Amino acid sequence: MKVKVSRKAHFNAAHRLHNKSWDTEKNKAVFGLCSNPNYHGHNYELIVSVAGEIDPETGFVMDMKVLKDLIKEKIENALDHKNLNVEVPEFKELNPTAENIAVVIWNKLRSEIDASKELEIVLYETPRNYVTYSGE
Ligand code: NI
Repeated sequence: MKVKVSRKAHFNAAHRLHNKSWDTEKNKAVFGLCSNPNYHGHNYELIVSVAGEIDPETGFVMDMKVLKDLIKEKIENALDHKNLNVEVPEFKELNPTAENIAVVIWNKLRSEIDASKELEIVLYETPRNYVTYSGE
């Protein structure tokens, strides 16, 4: 039996989408408003899900307090109110798209969560646009 538990979190961050091997015109054409050289912010909504067997002793798949604290410590503290391009080392050379942010978040959490459990990240960049990554 496999059960999935999920925790919602939130962070605000600034970014700029940019490919330095392209000229301004092409960056504008591909990334639109997100290519603004002076950066802009998003209200990111994050859903972290852990799936696996229920522990017969606790009745939990994972202690949600532990998951909450992990998200706070590893993700919110690293990303909230940050300029992703400038202040977060993972995005020095990596375009901070929602896709890449989801992969970075997954990588930061994977080693912190029991290897027998599956980890899935859903990241909303806007209320209507979201990405999912589960390590494949
Ligand atoms: Ni943007």
